[in-house]
Amino acid sequence: MTRHGVVVIGCGVTGSMHCQSVCNMPSLQLLGVVDIIDTRARDFAERFRADEWSTDYHKFLNHRDCDLVIVTTWPSSHRQIVIDFLKAGKHVLCEKPLAPTLKDVDEIIATVKETGRKLLVGYIIRHNASYKKIKVMIDEGQIGSPIIMRMLGGEHPIEDEHWRRDVLLAKETSPIIDCGCHYVDIMRWFTRAEVLSVSGVGLRLSPEIPEGKYDYGIITVRLNDGSVGIYEVGWTRNYRNFSEKEFVGPKGRIRLIYREFRGCHPEEGDLIEYYSYPGHYEIINVKGVMKRADVQLQYMVDMIEHNEDPMQGLEDARKSLEIVLTGDEVIRKGLMCSSIDNKRLK
Ligand SMILES: NC(=O)c1ccc[n+]([C@@H]2O[C@H](COP(=O)([O-])OP(=O)(O)OC[C@H]3O[C@@H](n4cnc5c(N)ncnc54)[C@H](O)[C@@H]3O)[C@@H](O)[C@H]2O)c1
Repeated sequence: MTRHGVVVIGCGVTGSMHCQSVCNMPSLQLLGVVDIIDTRARDFAERFRADEWSTDYHKFLNHRDCDLVIVTTWPSSHRQIVIDFLKAGKHVLCEKPLAPTLKDVDEIIATVKETGRKLLVGYIIRHNASYKKIKVMIDEGQIGSPIIMRMLGGEHPIEDEHWRRDVLLAKETSPIIDCGCHYVDIMRWFTRAEVLSVSGVGLRLSPEIPEGKYDYGIITVRLNDGSVGIYEVGWTRNYRNFSEKEFVGPKGRIRLIYREFRGCHPEEGDLIEYYSYPGHYEIINVKGVMKRADVQLQYMVDMIEHNEDPMQGLEDARKSLEIVLTGDEVIRKGLMCSSIDNKRLK
């Protein structure tokens, strides 16, 4: 068995999820952890038994035993860190959104082509068992086509630390970009269609959010197969913790209820409610947790070991980012709608 040496950059909430997965996988060894805050890096090294820690990722660029780097820092720092490690010959798993602008993303993709290293963007929902099951149901034509995709959700951060993190993230990105890229990616994955236009509105509800930014947003997208998607998100202390994910077609509908929101038997996992016209109802339990960082990490290891081409995944990551960046611009500029080629902002 090949053992891959891993370094994790960014010792925050997502970094801890990745470190835990690395520790659970016998084919991986956690060589080092990095955070600009020294106490975080030191605590992670102790907690996850990493060999070394640092406040400067450059320390690991030429680490002989490291071949995989996981980047879980804030989006504004991704570009430089990812490019530096790719150029140093390492494979990289980087959290979404890959970078704040398409120009940065293109520079990263050019570096992947130039170095031949693998890069996977952390679209973890693609590795979730419930979404994979719904993808199969849609592909089998169980609800027909075109479809309406309603993807709504909100967070009520109770703990101060959680809220501080949301405010920090809102300063450099927006909920439509940061979380929306996952769900726009799902819309394109489920339909295999391209987004033609985006419209949206947003509001700044919390005084802690900087002016010109927003903590509530909704976008609607129109796709070229006739389907439509709605994505709504709120990160505010007055919002309700909820999730509504539903896919409706001419032959029926599929609704996904995450285990924490189902009324009973959460030990059975997520719940998929399936209805097909006329009068067929089905309840499907799907075991598992929402975010399978270990499954995503195994996918990355397989990419390395089987020398798989990372380009399709990168094109998908770029496309979903382009759509949410356009949606964000529509909201911030108070526009009605934008075509996705970005040339016809109205
Ligand atoms: N895939 C998902 O479902 C998911 C969920 C939440 C967040 N994320 C993404 O993960 C990333 C991190 O988010 P988070 O919620 O874990 O944030 P966080 O604030 O909890 O952690 C980020 C950490 O990175 C550190 N950091 C920042 N710049 C650094 C640098 N240059 N070098 C080293 N360390 C640095 C910070 O000190 C902090 O400890 C973001 O891109 C976010 O969008 C993904």
